[in-house]
Amino acid sequence: MTGASGSADGRAGGGAFDRVARARSARPEDAAALYRDWAAHYDADLVEVLGITGSSRIAELLAEHLADRAASVVDLGCGTGLVGTRLRELGFLTVDGVDISPEMLAVATAKGCYRRTVVGDLADVAALPRGPYSASVSAGTFTTGHVGPGVVPGLLALHSPSAWLAWVIAAPVWDSFREVLDANGVDTVRADLEPIRRGGEPEFRNSGKLTTGPESQFSRSPDSQFPGGE
Ligand SMILES: C[S@@+](CC[C@H](N)C(=O)[O-])C[C@H]1O[C@@H](n2cnc3c(N)ncnc32)[C@H](O)[C@@H]1O
Repeated sequence: MTGASGSADGRAGGGAFDRVARARSARPEDAAALYRDWAAHYDADLVEVLGITGSSRIAELLAEHLADRAASVVDLGCGTGLVGTRLRELGFLTVDGVDISPEMLAVATAKGCYRRTVVGDLADVAALPRGPYSASVSAGTFTTGHVGPGVVPGLLALHSPSAWLAWVIAAPVWDSFREVLDANGVDTVRADLEPIRRGGEPEFRNSGKLTTGPESQFSRSPDSQFPGGE
């Protein structure tokens, strides 16, 4: 994707696109430092500059499938709470947010959209809240430079047997996630291609059905529209 304009202070236009590209080409172990430095202007970059819609969209997809607004939900890599904010608007009141970055979580906590926020690495499932959760949601975290498919079995263990999963998964890592999801009994029921930002090319957002329990489901949406994200 091209066409972003930069500014002298590097904050507008190109700065935001550059930060996304840098995040997607980073090493996963650099995520905490990268998002520490991004937290204060992350929302402005994503919402105002990039026009990201994927965070809201995945919350809306979950709401389409999960009628019980009292259900416990965990937001995996919740960041500043863009997904949690939309979930709250949709009536979900029991949502926990997990993220590796305390600075991103501080922004999320201030919004009041989560029951609680927990600093944690998705790769270290022992340090995460145990749930069991009736659903999980995730946007922007299952992508290059972030969290890979090796976390999936551990994360599935945080869910109740009939949990729903609503996950945005980037195109470049989808095959590897799908392989692990399949191996863990995930039965895909939705695999739709969608953009994750206003004016973006349709990429793909998918949801599926996992059968670690009888009715678990997930959604995904890759987001390879940014330089460095392919
Ligand atoms: C692109 S942001 C997405 C944030 C939010 N979900 C949204 O829709 O705006 C990716 C988030 O993943 C978090 N993250 C990256 N690696 C992580 C890990 N290993 N464990 C937990 N969170 C991680 C980052 O700190 C960051 O907040």
